[in-house]
Parts: sequence; structure tokens; C-alpha cells
Amino acid sequence: MGEQRETPGENGDRAERMTVPRFLQRKKLGQKIVMVTAYDYPSALLAERAGVDSILVGDSVGTTALGYDTTLPVTLEAILHHTQAVRRGVSRALLIADLPFGTYQAGPEDALRSAARILKEGGAQAVKMEGGAPIVATVRRLTAAGIPTMGHLGLTPQSVHLFGGHRAQGRAPEAAQQMLEDAQALEEAGAFGIVLESVPSALAARISAAISIPTIGIGAGPECDGQVQVWHDLFGLMPGKTFRHAKRYAEVGDLMTAALRDYVEDVRQARFPTKEHSL
Ligand code: KIV
Repeated sequence: MGEQRETPGENGDRAERMTVPRFLQRKKLGQKIVMVTAYDYPSALLAERAGVDSILVGDSVGTTALGYDTTLPVTLEAILHHTQAVRRGVSRALLIADLPFGTYQAGPEDALRSAARILKEGGAQAVKMEGGAPIVATVRRLTAAGIPTMGHLGLTPQSVHLFGGHRAQGRAPEAAQQMLEDAQALEEAGAFGIVLESVPSALAARISAAISIPTIGIGAGPECDGQVQVWHDLFGLMPGKTFRHAKRYAEVGDLMTAALRDYVEDVRQARFPTKEHSL
């Protein structure tokens, strides 16, 4: 990865390049962190223009851009491919990429090999992986090797078959207590942040208060230190799919369909191309 430039953005005070220390500082200053997923170059450019703090090349690329039912088929090569594309569009946001299923669970050395590729070949600045106690030693190993690592608790989609579906987690008191302890163990091992996905708001608030690293919520209520949303959910790009945790900021899918219908009709009716579009 070449040297990154400090690029003044369109967002004045938020224009400085996001780093892991600045990410941590945000929590101390009580400033919310805004993260979004992205999987390609133009999306990264748009996210940068809007001033997001961090871009996640999530393994949700599998269930969005690639059309799988779960994130399990996503490979390290796929994450590298998409991370490289996003990297080319990122100038200021902190770029994080997911370690996909099967590339870190075998142990710290396995994870280190995968994570190093994500930084060296993908150009990400940090990695994220799912799980609590079982991955604590791995977080410690990656951090010791200089690889900033983010945790992910609650609904961890790579465990979809264990959960019997994409279900909210942490509702029972014992499960809630376990999640709190997992969050504390991840912080102690060196994680610089934790995604809390589909977790009761009260539990997310409790965890956020109990640890000094930022919590990034998705379906985890308003008291997390930041928020992450999946690109396709923000813009209505997955026809027929709506989620309670997601807010639709624009119906881009409908706009694109209408534009495509116009194109189809124009070509069929010989209204396009005209002389204007021809040599
Ligand atoms: O893969 C992903 O997009 C994620 C977010 C939902 C946090 O892990």
C-alpha cells in the first residue's frame, strides 16, 4: 500500500484522515462514529464524499453483491478483490475488511496469515472477525503483530447454522452476561472496536458503558458509540428485502429500475441512440 495522503474532504472539521488512534479517541470525545459497508470503487468514492469515518468491506458482500443466501461461501480471494477496489476509492476513511468464514477459526497463526494478506494485498488498515472467547487469543496475536483488529458480537452471521437462522442474540440473562464478558475479553486482548449486531438496546448500552473501545451498532439501539449499515440496505438495492435494523435513505433501486425501463423502451422504439450520441 502506498503512502496515504491527507485529503481535505467536503466536510470541513471531519476532513482529517481516520486512523485507529483517532477512532479510539472518538469515544473519549463522545463523538459518534459512522461506518458503512462498500464493495467497489464508485461506492467508496461516494462514501468518502459523504464524509463517513470508516468503510467496511464486509463479508455481507456475499449476501448482497454476490447473491448468496449466507456469508459462508465468501472466500479470502473475494474479500481481497473487493478490498482492492474499495482501497482505490478511499482517501480518508478507515478501511476495515472482514476475515471470511474459515480463514481464521483454525487458530492465531492461520488468522495471522489471512489478516496479513488483507493488509498487504488488499490495502485495508484493519480486519474484523466474529466471535467472543474462542477468538481472544487470535485478537491478541494479530494485535501483537501490528494488525488492528475489530471484534463482532451478537448475531454473527458466520454462525448462522448454529443459531438456526439470522436471529437476534443476547436476550437471555446468561447470554447477555456472556456477551458482556466477551466484549471485555476482546478489549483486554487489544481489539480497537466491537460491532454489536442484533443485540437488545439495553445490553448494547451496558456493554458500551463497560468498555473503553467503541461499540459499533447495527440493530443494537441508539447507545452504541457508532453505527454501521450495509450499503444495499441504505439505498434499497435488494428488491424485496427490508430489515428492521436498517433505514432506507433513498430508493435508488427503484430509480435505477425506472431508468433501465426508459432505456429499454428508447432502444426498442429507436429513440436511442440518435445523431447526438453517434460519431
Ligand atoms: O459483513 C458485514 O457487512 C458486517 C456488518 C453487518 C457489520 O459484518
